[in-house]
Order: sequence, then C-alpha cells, then structure tokens
Amino acid sequence: MRRSYEVLREIALREAGISLAPGREAMVVARLGARLRALALPSLDAYVAHLRAPGGRDELVHFVEAISIHHTAFFREEAHFTELAEALASWAGKGRRSFRIWSAACSSGEEPYSIAITAREALGERSSDMKVLATDISLQVLDRAARGVYAGSRLKAVPEPLRRRYFEACPGSRDDLFTVSESLRKHLVFRRVNLAQTPFPLRGPLDAVFCRNVMIYFDRSVRQGIVSEVERLLRPGGLFFVGHTENLNGLETTLLRRAPSVYQRAEAA
Ligand SMILES: C[S@@+](CC[C@H](N)C(=O)[O-])C[C@H]1O[C@@H](n2cnc3c(N)ncnc32)[C@H](O)[C@@H]1O
Repeated sequence: MRRSYEVLREIALREAGISLAPGREAMVVARLGARLRALALPSLDAYVAHLRAPGGRDELVHFVEAISIHHTAFFREEAHFTELAEALASWAGKGRRSFRIWSAACSSGEEPYSIAITAREALGERSSDMKVLATDISLQVLDRAARGVYAGSRLKAVPEPLRRRYFEACPGSRDDLFTVSESLRKHLVFRRVNLAQTPFPLRGPLDAVFCRNVMIYFDRSVRQGIVSEVERLLRPGGLFFVGHTENLNGLETTLLRRAPSVYQRAEAA
C-alpha cells in the first residue's frame, strides 16, 4: 500500500501539480473509496494498476477530482474584493473602459461571481466591457460554476441588496435555491485550465488574477511556473491575489508586494 501511495503521489504531481503529503494515505484512500467501488476494484494496489494500464488515462480525470479540495465561499477573504473595487474604480477614473480578470482556480463559481459583482458595483455603467475568465482543472466544479445555482445558505456572505440585484429565486424550488441573474452571468467565461501545465493557453493583458487557496497544494516548481505566467499575462499595474495563507516567498518574481497576499506588476516607466 505504501508503494501504491508513492505512485499516486507521483501521478498527482505530474498530472495536476498537486503535492500529496507523505502521511496522507488514509485521506487519499478515503477519497478514492467511491472510485474503487465504481470500478469494482478491491484495493489501492488494484486501483494503481488500473491507472497505469493501457486505457488508464480515462481514469486520471476521476483521480484528480477525487484528490482535489474544492472548498470555497462567496466573498471569501473579503479584503481582496475591497482592494479590487478600489483599483477598478481608479483605473476607470483614468479612462480605462475594458477590464479582464482571471479567477484561476474558480472551484464551484463563488469566487468568479464575487469578482463580477464587485466589478459591476465598482464600475457601474462602465462595466459593459468587463469579463471574468473562470478556470479550474475539475470539469465537475466548472459545470456547477457555469450552472450558477446556489442554496440560500451559501449566499449569506452576499449583502442583501446585492443578492436581490444579482440572484433570482429558482421558480418552484423547495430548497431555497437561487440562480445567478443573466445580467451577471454574461460577464463570465468558463474553461478548463491546468495550472501545472505552462504556458497557459491564455492571452493578456489581464487587469487582475485571483489564484487563491490552490498554490498551497503545489511544489515550488509549479508555483514558480504560475508566477512567471502571471507576470507575462498581467498588464503593468495589474494585481495578483493569492490566498491569505499564501505568499510568493522563495520564488523569483518582479511582482511588487502591495499588501499581504496582494501583489502588483510595476507600472510602466
Ligand atoms: C480550495 S479550492 C479554491 C477555490 C477558490 N480559489 C477560493 O479561494 O475560494 C482549490 C481549487 O483548485 C483546483 N485545482 C487543483 N489543482 C489544480 C490545477 N492543477 N489546475 C487548476 N486548478 C486546480 C481544484 O479543483 C479546486 O477547485
């Protein structure tokens, strides 16, 4: 079992950049339980053999799903949204009319919708050319994000006037479900992007990149790849948000630290 776990660690790192800690076998076995049952496999060893067999590549998607952590929330780490709103208002005040923001590990959509709400509120009528690109490695969460349907309990962090402006109660739903309004949805584009595979299939310039609560799972070389790509994609003055427990310490970067967990590409001279 230990050997199988080592192989799974190698596959997780190679395919998704995810570093599984050496002592987390129990967690991984628990998370893979549903896959073992679905494939009628008796053990982790059998699962590894299945993954490595010809045709095992199809299972890789499920493997990455099973080991990924998708926890997220609306307006999580709220200070970032205040920072973003101030920057957008300032850029709009200087005449900018086109805005591009990337939510790079968007999970089930709470982050990119929070970004879009923030931008709409900060920009008002100047938000007609504002787009939020929302990406993740997981097709399952991307599908949920694109559907944009949330239980009322998930919307507690959304102030009531904003909830009324940007969400609609799902007609006939008994479970207190809300759907993102069309007026907000039109700003979002969803795509699968694997952050462990550079160069990213994206073009800049971007005004802001949110890459939060995902770098903690990556080793240094994957984190370095992300930061170098973000430098390439951000326009001068553009912002890079990482999770509150994350930072760019130990990485080579020209990005400037603007606040804890907020970085900025230097303005053009
Ligand atoms: C903990 S969630 C963070 C969601 C959101 N950014 C936030 O802070 O609330 C981490 C997300 O990273 C995604 N992820 C993991 N490995 C990835 C990779 N190699 N490329 C892109 N996304 C990845 C997972 O699927 C998951 O949805």
